[in-house]
Amino acid sequence: MNCADIEVVEYRSGQEAEIERLIYQSKKPILFKISDFPDTFDLDFYIDSHNGKTSYTRYDSGKNIIESSTARLQDVLSWIKEDQPVRIFGQMYPDHINDKLVDKIPLWKKIPFRPRYFKSSLGKALYFFGGKGSVTKMHFDRERNSNLHVCLHGKKRVLLFDVSQSRNIYKTPLKSDSEVDFKLPFDKSMKRYPDLAKATCYDVVLSPGDMIYMPKKCWHYIEYIEHNVSATFAFYPKRIDQLLGTLSGVFYLGFSFQGMGLDKTPTYKKFSKRYIHSRGLKRLGYKVIESLAFVAIYPVCLYTTINKFVILKKRPY
Ligand SMILES: [Fe+2]
Repeated sequence: MNCADIEVVEYRSGQEAEIERLIYQSKKPILFKISDFPDTFDLDFYIDSHNGKTSYTRYDSGKNIIESSTARLQDVLSWIKEDQPVRIFGQMYPDHINDKLVDKIPLWKKIPFRPRYFKSSLGKALYFFGGKGSVTKMHFDRERNSNLHVCLHGKKRVLLFDVSQSRNIYKTPLKSDSEVDFKLPFDKSMKRYPDLAKATCYDVVLSPGDMIYMPKKCWHYIEYIEHNVSATFAFYPKRIDQLLGTLSGVFYLGFSFQGMGLDKTPTYKKFSKRYIHSRGLKRLGYKVIESLAFVAIYPVCLYTTINKFVILKKRPY
């Protein structure tokens, strides 16, 4: 695996138009260094801000998920502050708390807010909290949104691949996941997935005030090397991206384990195994089957998503 240098750009208040132009043009990730970023958004800030229930995931020493449950938000944040291997994914906060952060990143006000699923209640910022030893597996966002992901407190490692690397990192069919387990030693993965050697990554450690731009379908794997607070502004540069991203998200929700669980069936597993290792003409054939399957299954996925996530209001993540 080769590592490329990520483009690094300093972002000062007042440069929003320039930065917006830059990210709309770039198909590659960019690291923005926000000047004079305050150190106020730490775990204590969020422990004192708001309470309620949250969903969390706990990991074992091998960074495997051992528990997914709910608890009081303040309790889970306290565990993370103690560096327990626990992670909160996509926490939402009320506007008056969000605004304190958004005020420090005027770029987030400048970019048109086109929320995922056209749902403005998803808020301008989603928060990510993690203790040392927690991870987020390699994926790209199923809603195909672009992201501005800012580190607010602590450090974390982000491993990125642009979309051109999908085959080299063994993208699974009909999903936005990689078959490779990036928390395992690279040598071990190489034996099973030899094309990893051809892949080009960006390997970045984020510190407070670092904001990474991920264009749509940018692969990301995250490792919490110490307790960390981060926030994401998810957006679509164009309305057509928002529409296509919603269609893609609806399919995934219905298809995946949260919906019908078709990705857990023996037929899918068998097809996926052949798909990820196929190359050349064979690969083309599998891609055609994948496209036909997408169209054929879509109505059922749409029905399942409406039923589970709209009518029953189950949280999709
Ligand atoms: Fe993501």
